[in-house]
Amino acid sequence: MKKKLLLILFPMFLILLGACSSEILYQIPNGDFEAADLSGWTSVSGEATISRDVYYDGQSKYIQENEQFLTTKEATSEVILKSASFTLGGLGYVSFLISGDANSEDAVVVLYDALTQEEIMHETYTAYDGDLFRDNFIRVVWDLSDYLGQELYLQIEDTGSNYLNVDALDTWIETDEELQRYQSNVLERLGFMTDNLLLSAEYYLNLYNHTIDPTTRYTYHVMGEMGWINDPNGLVYYNDEYNVFYQHNPYAPVWGPMYWGHVTSTDMVKWEYRPLAVAPMVNSAGGGAAFSGSAIEIDGDLYLMYTENWQGYQYQVLSKSTDGIHFSKINDGAAVLDDSDLPFYANPVDFRDPNIFVHDGTYYSVIGSRQINDFGQVLLFQSDNLVDWDYVGPVIQGSVNTIYTLGYMFECPDLFELDGSDVLLMSPQEIPGHRNTHGTVYVVGTMNYQTGMLEGWNLSEIQEIDYGFDFYAPQTLVDNQGRRIMIAWMQSWNRAPMTGQFGWAGALTFPREIHLDESGHLIQYPIQEIENYRENLETYDATSSSLVQTGITGNTLDLELTFTPGEGQTGITVFADEEGNGTHIYYEDGYVYLNRSDNMGGRYPLEMYNLTKAPVTLNQDGTITLRILLDRYSVEVFVNGGERAITTTVYQSHATDGIVLFSDANAHFTLSKWDLHVE
Ligand code: FRU
Repeated sequence: MKKKLLLILFPMFLILLGACSSEILYQIPNGDFEAADLSGWTSVSGEATISRDVYYDGQSKYIQENEQFLTTKEATSEVILKSASFTLGGLGYVSFLISGDANSEDAVVVLYDALTQEEIMHETYTAYDGDLFRDNFIRVVWDLSDYLGQELYLQIEDTGSNYLNVDALDTWIETDEELQRYQSNVLERLGFMTDNLLLSAEYYLNLYNHTIDPTTRYTYHVMGEMGWINDPNGLVYYNDEYNVFYQHNPYAPVWGPMYWGHVTSTDMVKWEYRPLAVAPMVNSAGGGAAFSGSAIEIDGDLYLMYTENWQGYQYQVLSKSTDGIHFSKINDGAAVLDDSDLPFYANPVDFRDPNIFVHDGTYYSVIGSRQINDFGQVLLFQSDNLVDWDYVGPVIQGSVNTIYTLGYMFECPDLFELDGSDVLLMSPQEIPGHRNTHGTVYVVGTMNYQTGMLEGWNLSEIQEIDYGFDFYAPQTLVDNQGRRIMIAWMQSWNRAPMTGQFGWAGALTFPREIHLDESGHLIQYPIQEIENYRENLETYDATSSSLVQTGITGNTLDLELTFTPGEGQTGITVFADEEGNGTHIYYEDGYVYLNRSDNMGGRYPLEMYNLTKAPVTLNQDGTITLRILLDRYSVEVFVNGGERAITTTVYQSHATDGIVLFSDANAHFTLSKWDLHVE
């Protein structure tokens, strides 16, 4: 009888228990830390803090979700934090964001069985962290379908000297859409770790390129679909098209794991995006970066030679394509040149940016290098098959005597014959007192292919290629018309481009045809194709000794101005407001100046970062001619048919777009303006 009663009562007791106990908890409270405190969490030991620091800027995909996240960064002793216990429901997944310090097995998110206290899963940040990715949040998704219906809890455990950040813990994933969002998030965040880096980066671009507002982009300058770009790479005329590759971090508008972006064009004005061409090397020890390099066509195939920068170690690799679109790494990306190929006087740490060419039936590559005494050098290597290379000699070497012209490490060399001479372009780093820290120079001489040396130049004759604030790492190609065309990165190191707020950063200069004049001076001028996009010609003729509002406006313009300067300053202001504030380009006393300070919003208060000048001689008839290309944020000035160039970005071009002329003396101006309309 007793037994029977018990049998009846027990199920009733269970029902009652279920009714009395609060609802089953599926989602842990404050898993997103947006409460801005640790409510919902129990400290088993130590104290963690809630932070709302944003790692990188608001456009980066590696930041926390919403505002707050948990960090153990400030903790002075071990921290163990326990979540509320929850029942695993929904589809049986748990997901969260994790970031932190490298190589820390002691900073973990752990999942426990609430009944047995046994560990089920754990995750450290170590698995994801390469040198470049510290503090980038990674989304983790745990498939726990075997534990559906079980009671579990999470602990955040930091028992070592490193730290951990955690955010957006979700223990209740109900729909396929939610899961997919998290899983694609994994792909995007782990792009650099997956087997097919190229595909996942491409996937990421396709998913997110629509987020870039087209009205924030340049209209006729090469830039990335989104994210960051720097140096132009692999310039080549191939398969009847201009091919431009570029250093690219598709994931964020900051420098990062370098991929090679790729665009092609039939006229170098309108460009088409192609799939990413090269991904960085990656293995279980972390990720690398595919640094700058060049391209060459051999028997219809296209080869890229570039630097793999793996954990600070730089070596040269090859990639090949039979269609100019899809590339595969030769020998799986094994080095064709590494530090063992360097002469004893080269520092093995800096060895990059190979530029390949053919001379007398032999392949050559010029590569940027640093001597053991820290000054720069460009080294020449030769090969019969692109894979086996022999060192020939140093093309040029810096020394203490060259420091104010050439600084230290020489990046991005390009060596070619032009109008009867050999010309070396390079980008020396750390020139003392240089407005951009790093500069670009050209050296004209005669190559001795026996010794590898460029001969017959004088230090005093070495000149800057461009006198602006945003011109670096130029490279050239020769096209089917035999033109030598130069393109550079139109931005500078050490200055965060303001367009990061729009999700992208960096662009390339408009292509310039280059020549040497009789005295060996470099002449550069925008390729003529841009003139096909000129519309709405307006002309203006004035003689004035004050400020002239031309009534002409626009921020995407092609301008031609001729004037006869008098005493003092004579010139033009672009991106001007009604008072005549804007970017001033003017002649005074043997120099053409560019002053962008009005258009910089106080960003760089020092004059040396806003005011630059290039030495010029007046034309024979006493005039100065300026050709100026504007594209929303950029000003490219070509003086006297390309005798000097000044390239710069400005930061407020959307705000004002007037064109103003000014003169201290009675100057005569003739101005032609065309809108540039490139869709
Ligand atoms: C020049 C440079 C190169 C290097 C690349 C990395 O701007 O520093 O030397 O290959 O950028 O993105």
